[in-house]
Parts: sequence; structure tokens; C-alpha cells
Amino acid sequence: MKFAFIIDPIDRLDPGHDTSVALMEAAQVLGHEIWITQANQLGVMEGRAFAFLQPVQLVPVELQDGRWVAANPWFKVGDRVQRFLDEMDAVFMRTDPPVTVPYLYATYILDYINPEKTLVVNSPKGIRTANEKMYALQFAEAMPETIVTLDKQVIREFAERQGAAVLKPLGGKAGEGVLFLDPGDRNFNSMVEISTHQGVMPVMVQTYLPDAKLGDKRIILLHGEPIGAVNRIPTGQEFRGNMAVGGAVAPTEITDREREICAQLAPFLRRDGLIFVGIDVIGGYLTEVNVTSPTGIREIDRLSGVNLGRQVIEWIVENARN
Ligand SMILES: Nc1ncnc2c1ncn2[C@@H]1O[C@H](COP(=O)(O)OP(=O)(O)O)[C@@H](O)[C@H]1O
Ligand SMILES: [Mg+2]
Repeated sequence: MKFAFIIDPIDRLDPGHDTSVALMEAAQVLGHEIWITQANQLGVMEGRAFAFLQPVQLVPVELQDGRWVAANPWFKVGDRVQRFLDEMDAVFMRTDPPVTVPYLYATYILDYINPEKTLVVNSPKGIRTANEKMYALQFAEAMPETIVTLDKQVIREFAERQGAAVLKPLGGKAGEGVLFLDPGDRNFNSMVEISTHQGVMPVMVQTYLPDAKLGDKRIILLHGEPIGAVNRIPTGQEFRGNMAVGGAVAPTEITDREREICAQLAPFLRRDGLIFVGIDVIGGYLTEVNVTSPTGIREIDRLSGVNLGRQVIEWIVENARN
């Protein structure tokens, strides 16, 4: 089959960490053709989405002493060609958030891929529907107490009621801009003003879950089914568990409660074409549904001795339309 991956510039990817590389590698190992492009290389012509694509060949990473080791160089790209994206069997939209206006426009272009011919992962409509922070609000029982607002007084009253809270920008990723809110903090007002861009941008404010110290679990869902998980534990003085801010990764199991959360989400994810998703769970509470370029496969594979990339690609091969 032919697969196109819309990614950030390939030389900026980390082959031992990035899930996009794991997926491309798995597809290559299974004998498929891999093409790469970027969100700014897409367009529509004759009512069909096209892209400037480059073929890519990867040298698969190897596990040595519990770490992924990549060759240098680890990829080789070929000449750029212009092709209609419906010539591909599947297109993976894997540009990193934040979801900016150019990002959104790229999803509108992807709407012009014929679904009879090509499976788009994740669905561009689904990506637009699912703000990564706010999608989880549909599952109120699974979520910690949470508000979304830009009103300073509402945020203050919520934080006072909760004792401690966490503030999150709605378009953030990798822990960026996530703040611990102590209602007694002398910087409280200022932090809210900065985060809301002086009362212009709504933010999410959530009760602080002390269990976050034990870890923030990433669970990978394929078509609504949990297929693997990794725990991310804050280190040092940091309250955030994100790998990007030094969170330590550890193997973990998926609990019954977490399976229930996944089962609750599954019909919504399937309805919205959200085939490859990473949810975040802290102390049994759902905090986030990552749909743009969820990561974690390399860590799960390494810690749990599995090959999730292969599992995902095999599912895509079964379900791509031709
Ligand atoms: N309600 C919460 N209570 C305690 N810690 C939290 C809470 N929400 C998030 N965190 C911490 O902040 C980190 C980032 O939050 P998250 O909502 O996952 O945003 P991001 O998209 O930036 O990963 C999490 O990994 C977790 O360690
Ligand atoms: Mg997160």
C-alpha cells in the first residue's frame, strides 16, 4: 500500500521518541511505500487534495541496553513530486499541535480527499471537532471538576473552592503553559491575565489531583480500543509529568476503571473518525484526549515489549478502502 505522512520537518523528529517515526517504520517493515509531506505542502486542484510528497526510506531504530538507538543518518528522502492524495491508501495527519489557523486550513484541504479511496487518520473533521482539552468534557463522570472560562473572578472562586487547581491553555501540548494555581499566590491575578491574554482567551481550570505525583498515564487507543499504556511521573521540583519537561516513564497496566473510560469514549471516537488517539488519565480521571499527533508508542514498545506501530499499520491495512 501507499501511505503519506503529514509531519513536521523530518530532520526535527526524534527517531527514538516520535510516534510518527514508529508508524512509518512499521509500515516500511511491512512492505508499504512511505511518502512524507508537511501541512504547508498541501493544496486542492480539480476538487481533489494534492501534496508535494517525498518518498522516504528509514533505517529502523534498535533497542540497545533498554534505549532506542538510531543510525546516523536515519532517513533518506527522494525527489519531491506533486500527487493527488487519493492516490494514497492512507494519509496520516501528524503535524504537532498547537492547532493554528494554517493547521486548521490544512484540515479543510484534507476534506478534499475521496474517502472511498483513502483513509485519513485522524479524520480532518474529527480533528476540528475535538479540541484536545475540551473533548473530554463530554465525559463528565470520568473527568475531574473542570471549568472553561476567561473570567478572572470565576477562576478565583473555583480555585478557592478547590483549594488548589491547574490552569491549562486550550491549545497547549507537552505541558506548555500548564500552571499550578494556588489561590493564595501573590501572582494569581497576573498568571490568569497572562494565560487568558488579558481576558481574551478562555482557559481550562481543573481541580488539582494529588495523584498526579504518582503519574499521568498515557493510554493509546486504536479505533476506540486501548492497545497500550505508559506512565509519566513528574521528577524533581516539577508538578507536570510530561516527557518534554523531564517526566520519567515507567511501564504500567490499564485498570478496570480506565477500560471503562475507554469504553465510554469509543463510540464517540469512532463517530468522529478519531482512529489513533492518546488519552491522559491521572488517578483514574480523564484529563485529555490527544488527537493531533499523540505520542507514546516508542516508550510503550520499549517498556512493555510490544510493537504498537505494527498493530496500528495492520489495522489500517485491514480497514483502508481498496
Ligand atoms: N488536574 C490535574 N492535577 C494535577 N496535575 C495535573 C492536572 N492536569 C494536568 N496535570 C499535570 O500537568 C501535565 C500536563 O497536563 P495536560 O492536561 O496533559 O496537558 P498537555 O497537553 O500539555 O500534556 C500532566 O502531565 C500532569 O502531570
Ligand atoms: Mg498531556
